[in-house]
Amino acid sequence: MNDLSRFDLTGRKALVTGAAGGIGKASAIAMAKAGADVAVIDLKEEMGRETVEEILALGRKSIYIHCDVSDLEQVSEMVKEVVDTLGGLDIAHNNAGISGEPIPLMDEGAIDEWKKVMEVDLFSVFYCCREEAKYMIPQRYGKIVNTASMSGTIVNSMELGGVPVAGMAMISYATAKAGVKHLTKALAVELIQHNIYVNSISPGYIITPMTQIIQDTPEFLEVENRTTPIHRQGEAEEMAGGVLYLVSDASSYTTGHDLLMDGGHTVW
Ligand SMILES: NC(=O)c1ccc[n+]([C@@H]2O[C@H](COP(=O)([O-])OP(=O)(O)OC[C@H]3O[C@@H](n4cnc5c(N)ncnc54)[C@H](O)[C@@H]3O)[C@@H](O)[C@H]2O)c1
Repeated sequence: MNDLSRFDLTGRKALVTGAAGGIGKASAIAMAKAGADVAVIDLKEEMGRETVEEILALGRKSIYIHCDVSDLEQVSEMVKEVVDTLGGLDIAHNNAGISGEPIPLMDEGAIDEWKKVMEVDLFSVFYCCREEAKYMIPQRYGKIVNTASMSGTIVNSMELGGVPVAGMAMISYATAKAGVKHLTKALAVELIQHNIYVNSISPGYIITPMTQIIQDTPEFLEVENRTTPIHRQGEAEEMAGGVLYLVSDASSYTTGHDLLMDGGHTVW
C-alpha cells in the first residue's frame, strides 16, 4: 500500500451539509474526486443541484436533499434518505452554518438572534452527528467532520474606526463555534468505541458567499489581510485538503482534533 492510497475514498458514501456553495461545495467535489458518492444537503436548491451535476460529471452517484439542519425531524429523514439512496453512510461533513446578524447586544432582537445562531450553527451539528451515528455504529465505521471556525478559538477583530461592529453576529457565532469544537471532542471520546472518528475544521477568512460583506468593505479587508500572516484570504478549495485527510483512512490515528486552516491568523 502506498501512502496516497490511504486518501482514496473509492466506494465510500458521504454527505455534506451546506454543499450548495462555498466550503461545503469544495469539500463535496474533493470527496467525489477521491472516489466517494456524495449527497448534497442544503436549503438552496438551484445551487445544490449544480453541485450534484458536477459530482455526477465525475462519474460518482449524487443526490440533492433539501433539509433545514436545525430541524431534528428533517435531519433524521435526510440521513435516512442518504442511506437509502447511496446505499450507506461512511462519511459526514456537517458544514452548514450562518454568520448571524450584527445586531447590537442591547437591541430587542438580540435574544432571537442568539437562539437562531445556536440552532443553526451548534444544535444542528449535534442533531446531524447523532442521526449519522445511528447508521455508523452498527457497521463499526464512520468519519465525521464538523465545520467550526477560528472564531471558536479567537474573537475576530471586527472594528470600524475603533468601534466593534459585529455585535450578536460575533457573540453568538463565536460561542456556537467554540461549542462545535468541544462537542466534536466529547463525541470523539464517546464514539471511538464504535470505530467512528469525529474531528473539526476551523477555517479562517475564506472567500465564500457568507463573507461577501467583507469583500465589499475595504476597511474589513484591510484588517483581515494585515492581521493574517499569509496576508490574504483563503479560497474554499484550500479547505478541501484538510477535509480529505480527516474523512479518509490517512487520519487513522486522529480523532477529537480541530484543524485550523486560517493562514496563521490565530498565531498572532
Ligand atoms: N467563509 C469563512 O470565512 C468561514 C470561516 C470560518 C468558518 N466558516 C464556516 O464554514 C461553513 C460554510 O460556510 P461558507 O463560508 O462556505 O458559507 P456559505 O454561505 O457559502 O455556505 C453555507 C451553506 O450552508 C447553507 N445553510 C445555511 N443554513 C442552513 C440550514 N439551516 N440548513 C441547511 N443548510 C443551511 C447555506 O444555504 C449555504 O449554502 C459554515 O459553517 C461557516 O460558519 C466559514
